[in-house]
Amino acid sequence: MPLSLPARDTAHGLPLNYSRFQPPDVRLPRHIAIIMDGNGRWAKARHRPRSIGHRAGARAVNACIDACLVKGIEALTLFAFSSENWQRPPEEVGALMQLFLRALDREVDELHRRGVRVRFIGAREAFGEDIRTRMARAENLTQGNSRLHLSIAADYGGRWDMVQAARAVAHAVAAGNLAPEDIDEARLAGCFSLHDLPAPDLFIRTGGELRISNFLLWQLAYCELYFTDTLWPDFDAAALTHALDDFARRERRFGMLSEQLGEEPFP
Ligand code: IPE
Ligand code: IPE
Ligand code: MG
Repeated sequence: MPLSLPARDTAHGLPLNYSRFQPPDVRLPRHIAIIMDGNGRWAKARHRPRSIGHRAGARAVNACIDACLVKGIEALTLFAFSSENWQRPPEEVGALMQLFLRALDREVDELHRRGVRVRFIGAREAFGEDIRTRMARAENLTQGNSRLHLSIAADYGGRWDMVQAARAVAHAVAAGNLAPEDIDEARLAGCFSLHDLPAPDLFIRTGGELRISNFLLWQLAYCELYFTDTLWPDFDAAALTHALDDFARRERRFGMLSEQLGEEPFP
């Protein structure tokens, strides 16, 4: 299914219609990737169990998707559960799985109705059959949609992504379909999750931590990073607008000089 994303200026990684002369609020990221962090601390501040924080976090996911639809964002990737999160106490992992299951049951049809394409990135095998079946259903149901490309990273790690990309390339070499000297960035990039989307141009991490925590390691190479102390359950449309305004003021140089971009520095 070909994607309907507009052409991209590969030299600058920018949409072809991207212009210095557009007002700041038009300089929208095409693809936002978010580490939704701070659910536990949100609950703790209210003397509630962590699972209540995760439930509030799920509501914030809906609000964020709504805001992205309103703003016309093309792709949104949400870090829901990392490869490392399996190491949390079993009762927390269990609560997260229940929440995940419920969200899949409750939200997918509505997302489909609104033209959202849903997909999951990550290892997947460790999830129960009930969850995996619902993931596959959501992906099949929504695969023809293109209003917003929503990717949920679940049992995902950037290192896992690198390993599976390396394995795919190794298979092609072993099968005699690829010479080692023909392995280049483009070939490898094509093996990573989300390879058919523009790379994220805005990364947001809520919850105050200043780290990537094994999220999209390859794909974030030239992403603009935005960190906020706001805890994920409190991240609303206004908070997203704040991040977008910050993004709009950035000058993305991709290793070059302002002059080479044909743009004056932003005020
Ligand atoms: C993010 O919130 C949700 C997941 C990692 C699943 P946390 O659960 O990490 O919340 P804090 O960081 O402990 O507050
Ligand atoms: C990152 O948050 C993973 C998700 C939000 C799913 P963590 O809370 O697991 O990250 P660390 O442990 O603080 O690095
Ligand atoms: Mg955390």
